[in-house]
Amino acid sequence: MKITASITYYYFFCFLLVILLISAKAIAEEGNGNAEQPAEVKKSDFPDGFLFGVSTSSYQIEGAILDDGKSLSNWDVFVRKRGSVNNGDTADIAADHYHRYLEDIEIIHSLGVDAYRFSISWARILPRGKLGDVNPAGIMFYNKIIDNLLIRGIKPFVTIHHYDFPQELLDRYGGWLSPFMQDDYVRFAETCFKYFGDRVRYWITMNEANLLSELAYEKGIYPPGHCSPPFGNCSAGNSDIEPLIAMHNMLLAHSKAVKLYREQFQHKQGGMMGVAVSAMMYEPLSDDELDKEAANRALAFSLAWGLDPLVYGDYPPEMRRYHGKELPTFTSEEKQLLSNSTDFIGLNHYATVYAKDCIYSNCMCSNTTCLPGENRAIKGFVSTITERDGVPIGEPTGMFQTFIVPRGIKEIVDYAKKRYPDKPVFIVENGYCPPWEHGEVDDLQHDTKRVEYHKAYIASLAQAIRDGADVRGYFIWTLMDAFVWSSGYDLKFGLYSFDRVTLNRIPRLSAKWYRDFLRKTSLKDLESRSAIPAINQDGLVPNVKHGSAEMA
Ligand code: BGC
Repeated sequence: MKITASITYYYFFCFLLVILLISAKAIAEEGNGNAEQPAEVKKSDFPDGFLFGVSTSSYQIEGAILDDGKSLSNWDVFVRKRGSVNNGDTADIAADHYHRYLEDIEIIHSLGVDAYRFSISWARILPRGKLGDVNPAGIMFYNKIIDNLLIRGIKPFVTIHHYDFPQELLDRYGGWLSPFMQDDYVRFAETCFKYFGDRVRYWITMNEANLLSELAYEKGIYPPGHCSPPFGNCSAGNSDIEPLIAMHNMLLAHSKAVKLYREQFQHKQGGMMGVAVSAMMYEPLSDDELDKEAANRALAFSLAWGLDPLVYGDYPPEMRRYHGKELPTFTSEEKQLLSNSTDFIGLNHYATVYAKDCIYSNCMCSNTTCLPGENRAIKGFVSTITERDGVPIGEPTGMFQTFIVPRGIKEIVDYAKKRYPDKPVFIVENGYCPPWEHGEVDDLQHDTKRVEYHKAYIASLAQAIRDGADVRGYFIWTLMDAFVWSSGYDLKFGLYSFDRVTLNRIPRLSAKWYRDFLRKTSLKDLESRSAIPAINQDGLVPNVKHGSAEMA
């Protein structure tokens, strides 16, 4: 009898312990903003036809900077300026994807993704911009990529311009600061449509014009390295004005390329034209109305800066209100060209921050956690802050002001749904890089944190879709570690790492997890992937017709 009583107490005690542990876990998760996430997310939580993929960009992985007729790009030159990139890193070799593309496509295939997002190197296919000829070797390289994806049942999702362009265009007229760049870009886009458009259904005209304008012309940390105080001390530039001019030219270039595609290619090729914008989420720092307005203003000055013109034909009213005549204007003809010039919206989402008003509050920068210039129009008079009452907004990552906040992806998608209700959304970048102090090789390879990150963000996205958002795809940034611009190789976002000496690709735990998550269940899926035709010695698939253009 006594024994039975002790066993009962024992079980009761264990039961209590389990309950306590579960509640403690729930409380801990609530602190990190994870409370709304279901424990496990499944591929079947997403609608039919939803595209899961991985993203890369040409400059970050290709290497081969002068092979087969490619010219030097703005980045090839910039990385050689002392102090421009951590550790003096360059992308001369990067992951050598130019020579290892076939192995990489095998890896992509092995993950079981539906689509692969990559970008075209402008300097590889038009080494002298519109002044010169098309480079046949460059065209051949991307034909090989596209063909080898298609025969494996993977949809090519092509970014035309992802930060890199021929240096000659910068030397000749100053790159995106000049309206001449618009026509040069249209020639580049037209070349892509002509040679690749017969097989590409998803186009992204540009990657993050909003972030590029900021980093290249306000902070001066991307080429051409322009800035002025208090944002930085560069040898040239005006941080209050130049980002607005560069953005203006990129928006017009986008709209001209889309017009060309719609008039001359879309009816035959049947693709969709979109754009990718940097999509940081802003939450008000406090319940104060001023901070709520600051969060709305920050969203208008970042996301809507890049999207309002392409949907409604003009800059956000919030920007017009706070900017003076430094914000350029569009002619009525340009407004017409811009209106509805995107078929879908691509969001690159990494960070959620708090927004604090700087119109009525003092936002003078006095410590290293704040950014200079937040009390100026170019920043929308908003200070971005990552903790509230001493509590960080989420767990840290290796990127500045970037914390793990899964609810942010739903919030930014909800914002886009409300502001652009008719536009489908693709998340074309979302990814995690560990903080520096987690740099131990084992941790990096056994990347449980990245797995948890993607599970939580994907779950939050699934909730946005259940709540009515028209989201059609999710791409992990990135397939493998890459050259991360001014951070060089210090930031590691890859599902795969690669050995910098042997260049061997090494799967991380997260690659295995993504593969399991995407595992095909229907026989039809398996069958569509089984028959992969042989390729010839040039890496091309025999009997596939390439493009509508004759080689120059
Ligand atoms: C860019 C990528 C970059 C990533 C991580 C994104 O904004 O599109 O090229 O590697 O951020 O920094």
